[in-house]
Amino acid sequence: FDSGLLAGQRVVITAGPTREALDPVRYISNHSSGRMGFALARAAVDAGARTTLVSGPVQLATPAHVRRVDVESAQQMLDQCLELLPECDIFIACAAVADYRPATFASQKIKKGAERSSLELVRNPDIVATVAASSAAPFTVGFAAETSKLLEYAQAKMENKQLDMIVANDVAGAGIGFNSDENAATVLWPGGSEVLEQASKLNIARRIIALIAKQMKNSSE
Ligand code: C5P
Repeated sequence: FDSGLLAGQRVVITAGPTREALDPVRYISNHSSGRMGFALARAAVDAGARTTLVSGPVQLATPAHVRRVDVESAQQMLDQCLELLPECDIFIACAAVADYRPATFASQKIKKGAERSSLELVRNPDIVATVAASSAAPFTVGFAAETSKLLEYAQAKMENKQLDMIVANDVAGAGIGFNSDENAATVLWPGGSEVLEQASKLNIARRIIALIAKQMKNSSE
């Protein structure tokens, strides 16, 4: 692993879950631990990059030399990412962004009453697709966590979101992915792929960073 791989590059990484508030005391979220994103931030710093984490609520210490911006909702995560965009060469979207948020926020705590109740949800903005579609977009990397047809869905996501690279994660396997210390993945880019066998998230992160550096070099030649 070359410590100068990303020297001078500015990297922004989203990590963790988002929280979508229903009322002052309740929210919708998911079980993302943020560990893969934080491992990527550490690997990016070790590769010489100036690195910013835009993180949802997680129980993790900030890696040394990483700037960290904390957010809660998907909309806040998008706003922070767009603010950082003019100073970003590489964008890695590792966050488990909630696909939907409650259609309305109740300013007072919602009271119980009827036996049945339903919740109206509206789509959240797609952060990585918004970044990739911006003018002067950075090298943009997404993640795809799938339980079936992994490579097919990941390839489609890369194309639909106009990504330069996607990390396909099989979350059906035990002991990898969400809330685990280990991960395994296949990295896809237009015209190539590489399998990353099961290893620690830091090891996987270092290999993703090396592939990003290689792919950026190839596409600039
Ligand atoms: O479409 P899906 O949620 O499976 O795509 C996953 C990828 O898109 C991840 O890189 C995730 O961080 C990113 N994403 C995003 N904003 C969303 C939803 C997903 O940046 N609203």
